[in-house]
This record gives sequence, C-alpha cells and structure tokens, in this order.
Amino acid sequence: MSGFQFKNKQWYADGVALSQIADKVGTPAYVYSLSAFEERYKEIDQAYKSVPHLVAYSMKANGNLSVVSALAKLGSGVDVVSGGELFKARKAGVKADKIIFAGVGKTDDEIAYALKEGIRYFNVESIPEILAINEVAAKLRRIAPIAIRFNPDVDPHTHHYITTGKKETKFGVYLGDVDKVMKVVRQCKSVQWTGVHAHIGSQMTQTAPVGKAAKVIEQLVVRLRKEGFPIHTVNLGGGYGIDYQGEKPPKASQYAALVLPVIKRLNATLVLEPGRFISGNSGVLLSRVTYVKQSGSKTFYILDSGMGELIRPSLYEAYHRIAPAQGPQKAVQTVDVVGPICESGDFFAKGRKLPLMKRGDLIVVFSAGAYGSVMGSTYNARPLAPEVVVRGTRFSVARQRQTWEDLIRLERIFA
Ligand code: LLP
Repeated sequence: MSGFQFKNKQWYADGVALSQIADKVGTPAYVYSLSAFEERYKEIDQAYKSVPHLVAYSMKANGNLSVVSALAKLGSGVDVVSGGELFKARKAGVKADKIIFAGVGKTDDEIAYALKEGIRYFNVESIPEILAINEVAAKLRRIAPIAIRFNPDVDPHTHHYITTGKKETKFGVYLGDVDKVMKVVRQCKSVQWTGVHAHIGSQMTQTAPVGKAAKVIEQLVVRLRKEGFPIHTVNLGGGYGIDYQGEKPPKASQYAALVLPVIKRLNATLVLEPGRFISGNSGVLLSRVTYVKQSGSKTFYILDSGMGELIRPSLYEAYHRIAPAQGPQKAVQTVDVVGPICESGDFFAKGRKLPLMKRGDLIVVFSAGAYGSVMGSTYNARPLAPEVVVRGTRFSVARQRQTWEDLIRLERIFA
C-alpha cells in the first residue's frame, strides 16, 4: 500500500509508522511516500496515453531531488520557473529535452543557462520576454524554441491568490495582442514559435474551466497555423485539484475527456504541468505538540512547526486535515492548532474539532506534499525541517535538517 493509512492504532507512510520516523529523525519533518507520487504521475500519464504527450511535473510544488528523480525515472518531464529549479532538475537526472522553462520574470542569465542546457522550450509570458530571449539566443548563436502563454480569460473558480487565467492577472499574453505578438515573432530570427500555453489556476475542482481554456487555445492554434506559424505543441498547464477537505476533485481521466478531442483535432503534442495533483497528498508534515495551552475558554495546541514549514493556512486560509499520529482519532474538543512563530497568522487550524492531545504527542498535518517545504522559511531563525522519503518499509532522510550553524553560514559580521 502506498500513501498514508491508519492501521494498528497509528498513521503509516506506506509500511513505516510515522512514530518510527519521528523517533529516528525528530520533528518537525516532512514525510513523502515515493510510490504515492509515482501512482499519481501514472494516473495522468495513462489518462493521456492516446495522444503524444509529456507530463512535465511542476517542481515548484515539491522540488525534492529524490522526488524529482523518482518521477524522471518514470519518464516525467519537469516544468521549472527559475535557474535554480533548472539546476535542481538536471541534478535529479531530468533530461534537458524534457524540461520546460516558465515564469514571468526570466533573467538574461537564466535564459542563457537554459539555452546552453538545451531545454525543450520556454513558456513565454510577454512581448518584452520574446525580445529578450531572441537577443540572448542570437548572442549564443542558437535558435530558442518558444511556446507563448496566452491568458484565455477563463475563471478557474479557485482562491483569488492562485487564479492566473483571468485577464487582470500578471500572467500570460492578452488574447487581444495576438497580432502584435505575430509581428514581433516574425521579426525575431533567433526564436522559433512552436507552442501555445495556458494555465488558468491552481487547485481547480471542476473540469469545465479546463475545457473552456482548451477550446480558446484550439481556435488560437488554428488561426496561428493559418498565419504560417508551425504550432505543434499545446500546453494546458497544471492546476488539477486534490482532496484537502472532502472536495471531490475530478480524476485525470475526466479532464482528459475534455482535452483529448481538442488535441486530436489539432493533431498536436500535449504538454501538462501538474504539481499539486502529483505531490499534494503524497506528503505530510509530522510535528509534535509542545504545549497544550488553555486561555479562557480557548484551547491551543502549540506545535513545534508552523508557518515556516507550511504557510498555506496563513496565506490562503487553506484547510489541511490534522490528526494525532497515534491513538484515538475521535474528535472531542474544539481547539486552535498553532505554531511557535511570533505572528498571530501562524496557525494550521482555527476552531478545529480534534481528539484530546497532550504535550509531547505526535501530530500529522496532511496534504503537505505540495507547496509545503518549497515555501518554507527560516523566519524566527528556525532551521528548515528535514524531508524524509519512504518506499515500502524503508525510509531515508532525503534532505537533512538545517542546523543553527547553517543559518549563519552565509553571514559575515561587518567590521
Ligand atoms: N503551471 C503554471 C504555469 C503554474 O503557474 C503552476 C502553479 C503550475 C503549472 C502548477 O500548478 P498545480 O498543478 O500545482 O496547481 N502556492 C499555492 C499554489 C501556487 C501555484 C502557482 N502556479 C498553493 O499552495 O496553493
């Protein structure tokens, strides 16, 4: 069994009790089930097997080298958004021609690095970026393959901070600017425009917006081909949602039912950039209750982890399931689950019904495999937590816990 299950009165990652990991590695720690990542990757890969496609895992969700390497071994590509992610992807063994470089603010140095590595293509977000890539490529005497991200103005019906496909966001090129873009690309001799990209938002729990975006893109591709641009790749981004709180997110095959006909009509290669779908429920944050504090009528479970390890509740009011790692699971009292950081926004849950817990008990914050560790910070000089990977009955520390010495390694006292 892969993933996280409750059996023998405690939570397990695959065949390893989380309590065993805490004993060995300490808390807080992220715990990832590698086979859970792999199963989710395969679900998407399978759903699109009837067309030429590349699943380019969006490593911004979880860029742990062991995770990326496990997916790369299954044939996954990677969607990167910085030179740092590109560097990590290559270190994890991802082939350059399976790497897509996205992001609104690529610097000239990052563009040059990606060109030298020989990535598959750039997802380009603006006209100034087309010009910059053209210039850097010309200097390096290369032709840069590009896909242009268009903003289809489709509402993904998700949190406004993770909505990207509406025209008022900073992402993608405004559809009304297609003519301008064509003119610019025709003048740029060092770029080759072969793909169109759209990503409308994250944690979507409906398929309809994806279907709508695919149709907008289809019309666009038909038009661009008529204009003489050899568009052969359609990239529909990521954003497939997961179950945090009892949502019933669509299966990959349900999205595929809407997308496949479009790709077949266009006879194109499909690229997808799922992050959370693969990683979200493949990881947890394992922590310990430092104190149980009563304050008037309120009860606080104060943990040894907080917004430094998982900022999603603070930033998006996101819901994460929480449970004791061992013992009774029945919720009997209402508590706030908070971290140790000096911010009132440092919480995992407010007014949550949970079992009785005491100082020293182990606690699990679920769905922390996506946008957990990668958004981690050392605020309050708290070292980054380790990342532990599990496969079957084996586990190992894939990224060590930072030390206090690590925290000051790059500092010099001004003399
Ligand atoms: N492609 C593009 C162009 C993106 O901007 C994103 C995510 C993805 C793919 C992957 O999206 P996913 O499949 O993971 O939904 N920190 C936020 C999510 C930010 C998403 C940013 N872009 C959160 O914790 O909910």
